Amino acid sequence: MMDTQVTPSAAVLALVPPPGAAERIILRDGRLAYLRPVTPAAKPLIAAAMRTLSPTTSYRRFFTVRYQLSDDELERMTNLDGWRQYAIGAVGVHADGRTEGIGVARWARVEDDPETADFALLIVDAWQGHGLGKAMLSALTAIARERGIRRFRGMVLAENTPMFAMLERVAPGYRRKSGREYETVELDLAASAIRVAA
Ligand SMILES: CC(C)(COP(=O)(O)OP(=O)(O)OC[C@H]1O[C@@H](n2cnc3c(N)ncnc32)[C@H](O)[C@@H]1OP(=O)(O)O)[C@@H](O)C(=O)NCCC(=O)NCCS
Repeated sequence: MMDTQVTPSAAVLALVPPPGAAERIILRDGRLAYLRPVTPAAKPLIAAAMRTLSPTTSYRRFFTVRYQLSDDELERMTNLDGWRQYAIGAVGVHADGRTEGIGVARWARVEDDPETADFALLIVDAWQGHGLGKAMLSALTAIARERGIRRFRGMVLAENTPMFAMLERVAPGYRRKSGREYETVELDLAASAIRVAA
């Protein structure tokens, strides 16, 4: 019988990143960032990034101002099974070659509705406004979709203009429901509903 499987050439294979490889992003201001799945190895990067947050950024993410996470929280946020919970971390590269943790985007399936996941994002202040949030949210939605998640649900403070503006850009059809302390947003993850970052 004829073998109908196409064998990729060495040149094509060289273009395919190995599993777990980082995705490189060039931000609008020319700085470099690498995205990769979060593992427990990211704990020191996350702890250091937390210490750089402004009160506003911290409050918008945690709904209270925090600059430190407990060991248990760091463990829960980095030891992820990839099916029930997943997170992407971003590492930024400075001109002198130093690197730092600059962002995390995560989802966790809702217990009684596994096609829905709660999501959250955080970009450290010095790296906001250069397209990283958009890139991380579109990467996060692509991975969730691959794993059978159909919608994201999130809690966003009503005053969080940058987050709503970003949702408008990435998921223009997102729904928004007002609550007392925060708004609940819901995004369909169908490819047609998400605009890949540009
Ligand atoms: C919300 C957040 C994730 C956005 O990330 P970011 O990297 O700063 O955003 P981007 O540079 O990718 O911008 C995405 C879009 O949002 C809009 N936007 C970003 N910052 C904005 C601001 N300060 N004011 C108005 N619009 C803004 C723009 O429309 C932008 O699209 P454009 O660049 O095509 O014009 C980031 O500000 C953040 O981490 N905030 C603190 C934590 C938080 O609020 N998390 C959300 C709740 S879990």
